[in-house]
Amino acid sequence: MCGIVGYAGWQNAKSVLLEGLKKLEYRGYDSAGMALMLSGDLKIFKGAGEICDLEDKINLDSKECSFGIGHTRWATHGRPSDENAHPHCSCCNKIAIVHNGIIENYQHLRGWLEESGHRFLSETDTEVLVHLVEHYYTGNLMESMRRALALVEGSYALLAVSSWEEGHLVCARKDSPLVIGLGEQENFIASDIPALLSHTRRVYILDDGEMAAVTSSGVKIYNMRGESVDKDIFEIGWDAVEAERGGYPHFMLKEIMEQPQAVRETLRGRLDADTGRVKLSELKFTPAEIQSIEKIHIVACGTAYHAGLVGKYILEKKLQLPVEVDLASEFRYREPLLAPRDLVVAISQSGETADTLAALRLARDKGVRVLAITNVVGSTLSREANDVLFTWAGPEIAVASTKAYLTQLVTLYLLALDFAVARERITSEESAELGRNLSFLPDKIEELLSTNSLNKMQTYAQKLARSENAFFIGRNLDFAVAMEGSLKLKEISYIHAEAHAAGELKHGTLALITEGVPVIALATQQHVLEKTISNVQEVKARDADILILTMTGNDHVEKHAHEVIYLPAINDFFTPILTAVPLQLISYYAAEIRGCSIDKPRNLAKSVTVE
Ligand code: F6R
Repeated sequence: MCGIVGYAGWQNAKSVLLEGLKKLEYRGYDSAGMALMLSGDLKIFKGAGEICDLEDKINLDSKECSFGIGHTRWATHGRPSDENAHPHCSCCNKIAIVHNGIIENYQHLRGWLEESGHRFLSETDTEVLVHLVEHYYTGNLMESMRRALALVEGSYALLAVSSWEEGHLVCARKDSPLVIGLGEQENFIASDIPALLSHTRRVYILDDGEMAAVTSSGVKIYNMRGESVDKDIFEIGWDAVEAERGGYPHFMLKEIMEQPQAVRETLRGRLDADTGRVKLSELKFTPAEIQSIEKIHIVACGTAYHAGLVGKYILEKKLQLPVEVDLASEFRYREPLLAPRDLVVAISQSGETADTLAALRLARDKGVRVLAITNVVGSTLSREANDVLFTWAGPEIAVASTKAYLTQLVTLYLLALDFAVARERITSEESAELGRNLSFLPDKIEELLSTNSLNKMQTYAQKLARSENAFFIGRNLDFAVAMEGSLKLKEISYIHAEAHAAGELKHGTLALITEGVPVIALATQQHVLEKTISNVQEVKARDADILILTMTGNDHVEKHAHEVIYLPAINDFFTPILTAVPLQLISYYAAEIRGCSIDKPRNLAKSVTVE
């Protein structure tokens, strides 16, 4: 949802900012821009298009320029165009601003500013910020920013520069992430950690309601009342190489291939592979608190929500507790019934998704405990939740989530086993047996990523890539994974895809099944296998083209399908962690064949920090 970067130091600012913007491109990529300070003048370069287009537009000798701000946009207010690209400038051309977020009362502010004589050049909400700052400017950018923000409703991570105060960057945060990277005689600002990794791993993470003044030699942090704030320096665990493509054509493929390792890392220290014992020592729950939980509410968006759907099946089964799964955007506005002994589990790769954070805050306001499952240490979700389980997937850069999803599933399994023992719902022998199965998963995923399996998936994808529609069906855990399979396919290949509980087809959707329509049937759950196969027969009778994903040994399904992908044998309870992998790869290959922009699908951005 827009990426912003700022630099004050001794290096060539243009190169530092371009590199940072490229690292943040997954946050938005419909327009880009930069403000550089040269000989006391602000030089603005911007336009619709990707960051490589911006690079071509910067036609100045920038060697002397070591200070500036940059932006990569995901349009909210105003279509992608040269005028709507950031930075936006004040009427006097002395102040420039880049912004991530939404200014909700911008129309009112714009009307008022226009009446006071300010000229607007764009349709964006952001532009009111720069005119407001100009309106209040009396020689101190920080002070005018503070006065301007007092009038603003909405969310922002923003960065401002002024040619009257060369060498000073001013930034502020409310409900959109912002980190300040600390270097030697240079400092950096960015929306997200990957933009900083090649320069520093020492950062300040700004909290809501904080502002900072950043120069090459120092960082000063203040609250909105202008009082100085002391903050701890945060050391980032990721390294720069993890956030590179590493020879793969796309981040998505790299991240799919990293899954065995990501799962190993997520299990490390939490599962003893020999005894199968699970211990989540980072949780602060006492056994009595675990026993007293009466209901679990899982909240999340998109792929993380699909992980939650799997979570519902496994937590209900092992804890014998009611579990509801909600889209965070619905949960926050539907006055959910929350009781003091309920637990809210908020799942988010980025830990910055606006709706998921709002759901967390709603639960906390009602006095309900929140456990976060997130991939980003230091993210807002991880800091605001009562308890956190990190998924150790490493940086996920592709917009389509893969390794984060798999590690979210693994974390939910760990949680189910840990709580089930504490609630005495399973014996320690049963838990040990399940834990051992969990420890086999990285090797089984590796098996699925072997060349033989990949060839099969590529061949199937060639057929799929020629279709404009596809259907995913399954029962129980397979249905939950089918939802994710369908999302993966549509978001990166633009093939229309729907997922249905296999038993639901005949209640309407069967009308869409005609000759040659691809139907991908997930049939890993032994107790409903024959039921699923009956549903496969229903679509076969309508001449659908059928791919079945099932467990090794279920050879009898072959006569019902055009293709079968066999998954390595594992306890039924864990199949989602395996089934997801061929679905990711089939989508990836189909998108590749169709020539789609895989890492940056149209209209999408990673980390949805606006509502
Ligand atoms: C799809 C995808 C999105 C995210 C969703 C939530 O591949 O990545 O659906 O899952 O935007 O993002 P997080 O997990 O960061 O809250």
